[in-house]
Amino acid sequence: MVTQSWNRRHIISLEDFQPAEYDTVLQTAVSFQEVLSRRTKKVPTLQGQVVANLFFESSTRTRSSFELAAKRLSADTLNFAASTSSLTKGETILDTAKTYLAMGTDMMVIRHREAGVPQAIADEMDRLQSRVGVLNAGDGLHEHPSQALLDLFTLCTTLDAEKPRLSLLAGKKIAIVGDILHSRVARSNIWSLTASGAEVHLAAPPTLLPKLFANYSIPRGMEGWEDGHSDRQLFLHWDLEPALRNADFVMTLRLQKERMTQHLLPSLREYHQRFGITSDRLKHCHPEVKVLHPGPVNRGVEISSELMDNPKFSLISQQVTSGVAVRMALLYLMGSGKT
Ligand code: CP
Repeated sequence: MVTQSWNRRHIISLEDFQPAEYDTVLQTAVSFQEVLSRRTKKVPTLQGQVVANLFFESSTRTRSSFELAAKRLSADTLNFAASTSSLTKGETILDTAKTYLAMGTDMMVIRHREAGVPQAIADEMDRLQSRVGVLNAGDGLHEHPSQALLDLFTLCTTLDAEKPRLSLLAGKKIAIVGDILHSRVARSNIWSLTASGAEVHLAAPPTLLPKLFANYSIPRGMEGWEDGHSDRQLFLHWDLEPALRNADFVMTLRLQKERMTQHLLPSLREYHQRFGITSDRLKHCHPEVKVLHPGPVNRGVEISSELMDNPKFSLISQQVTSGVAVRMALLYLMGSGKT
C-alpha cells in the first residue's frame, strides 16, 4: 500500500494539493479497487477507529460512499442527521463536533451548506490538540475535494486502468459545462485538472460564469503571474461549441435550482437548448469523448436522458463506483498514522 507523499491531517480544499499527493490518492485507490473486487470486500486497516459522518445538508452519494468506505476499512461509523439532532434544540455546530470528539471520533466527514464550516471545525480540533482529521464533503460554494478526486480517478483509469496518474491528463482537453457559479465541484475540479496539465474549458451563460473564474487557475500565493509563473491552462466560454471542440472529456454540472435566488436564466428549456449536452452535440468533440456528471442529475436539463444512460459515452455510474475506492483511500491515508 502506498503511503509516501502524505502528511495531511485534514482535506478541506485541493488548492494546495501537490502532484505527488494526487498520485498517492490515485495509487492507493487502485489498491482498494482491487479489495472491492474480492469476494470478501473488507480489510482490517481502520479497526477500532471511529468515522463520524456529519451531514448538515442532504446527500445520497457522498454520505453513503463515505459510510461504505469506512465500513470496508473496518472502522466504526456514526451517522448524524441535522433534522433529528440536538441542533434543533439550539446546540451549535462546534459543540456538536466537540460532542463527537468526546465520544472518541478519529475522523469527521462534514457537509454543510455554508462555505467554511469544515475549516472551522478543523481549526477547533487543532486548537483542542486533538488528532481528529476533518474531511470536507462539500461546503457551500467553496469546494468538494473528494468528488474532484473521484472524478480524477475516473478520468485517469479510463486512460490507464492499472496505473492511473495525474500526468496522463497533460494535453487533454476537458470541458466543464453548466452552473459553474454555484458549483463547489467545479471549483475543486479546476484545481486538480489544471494541476494535471490538461486544458480546462469552462462553458456557461455569463450569469453562471462570471469573469472572476479566470483567476481560479492561480493558487493562493501565486497571484503575481510574472513572478509566480503558472502553467495552468483555464479558458472561459459563454458559448458551448468552442468548449466542446475536440474535447476528450465533458463534465456536465447540475443546474442548482435551490441556490438560484436571482433570476439567472430565462427558462430551463432555453438553457437546455443552449448548454444541454446531448449525443448530437458530442459530434464537436473527440470521437472517443466521455461524459461525466457528479450527480444528482436534472435529466433533460444539463444532459439528455438518452446520453446519460449511454455506456458508450457516459462515465456517470463509474464515477459513483470509483467514489467508494477513492474515499477508502482518503480515510486510509488520513487514518493510517493513528492505527
Ligand atoms: N455529487 C454529490 O455530492 O452528490 P450527493 O449530493 O448525492 O452527495
